[in-house]
Amino acid sequence: MNTQEGLQLVDRDESGVDTAFREDVLKGLSQEQKAVPARWLYDDAGSQLFEDITQLPEYYPTRAETEILKAQSASFAERIEPGCAVVEFGSGSSVKTPLLLSATDPAAYVPLDISGDFLRASAQDLAGKFPNVPVYPVEADFMRQVELPSAVANLPKLGFFPGSTIGNMVARTAVDLLRSMRETLGDGAKLLIGMDLIKDEAVLEAAYDDAAGVTAEFNYNLIRRINRELEGDISLGNLTHEARWNDEYARVEMHLVAQADLQFTVAGKPFSLAKGASIHTENSHKFNRRTSSMMLLASGWEPQVRWLDSDEQFSLILAEAKPNRSAP
Ligand code: AVI
Repeated sequence: MNTQEGLQLVDRDESGVDTAFREDVLKGLSQEQKAVPARWLYDDAGSQLFEDITQLPEYYPTRAETEILKAQSASFAERIEPGCAVVEFGSGSSVKTPLLLSATDPAAYVPLDISGDFLRASAQDLAGKFPNVPVYPVEADFMRQVELPSAVANLPKLGFFPGSTIGNMVARTAVDLLRSMRETLGDGAKLLIGMDLIKDEAVLEAAYDDAAGVTAEFNYNLIRRINRELEGDISLGNLTHEARWNDEYARVEMHLVAQADLQFTVAGKPFSLAKGASIHTENSHKFNRRTSSMMLLASGWEPQVRWLDSDEQFSLILAEAKPNRSAP
């Protein structure tokens, strides 16, 4: 998982504080329902905790998606022409990316990430594993249209966005991102995207509130980061991790719930949180066939094939950027 805050692109004030982090936290804590954007979960400790989460027995998405990538390699080869440029949104996973590259026989691999450090490390790893596939890492914010290296300009494009990371965005942001991907990749491009499925609430809540408490630590780490980087004094002992299924929005929400009336300051500003109220720290939207199709279609992508794992927990969808044509 990328931290989405590369060294070059982070704006710091004279005391070294990340100004976007401070702005997001102060704004989010001032709302009626307190909320901090989920991107701030991923400092070094948070990124490591997320890696640990992917290994947990309750956290099925990584295993399920990897199973699809292994089981469907022949179908990918049938559907995706050899010699394309695989453009990965994020710096790539050491397991999933090699499975896709082996199955599709690409002419180039282009990882896009805002964090240069992650990008370089994973690009090097991939180049070692696939010496015949040129790797062109691009340090960029893929939430906006990105100019691809000229070396891949004339190759067919396959975008890759695994992990159901799209589910961490609210619908309007997800559609903005999918549209930017279409602009980056161009007409005729394909996109292979992981989208986690709506399922039994108990299974979903366990995946986001595991018995070993790793997801709780991932959530608490955000408060540690606020206290350390923004001179906060939030009492961690009075906050409890909670994973809640929100059926209206089809998403698992992570919250930190106050166990007592709390007063605290962050960056010199006072805040209060009543007992039972929460700080909302993450959304993880889940999809079914219709909602995933609707989201892709709304962004200019036509779903072509939808593969599921053997337990039908997770979907990997191949979509195509068909040129716009008249419709009734
Ligand atoms: C990165 N993302 C797809 C994960 C998810 O499942 O929404 C983040 C995560 N949060 C808690 N556990 C995992």
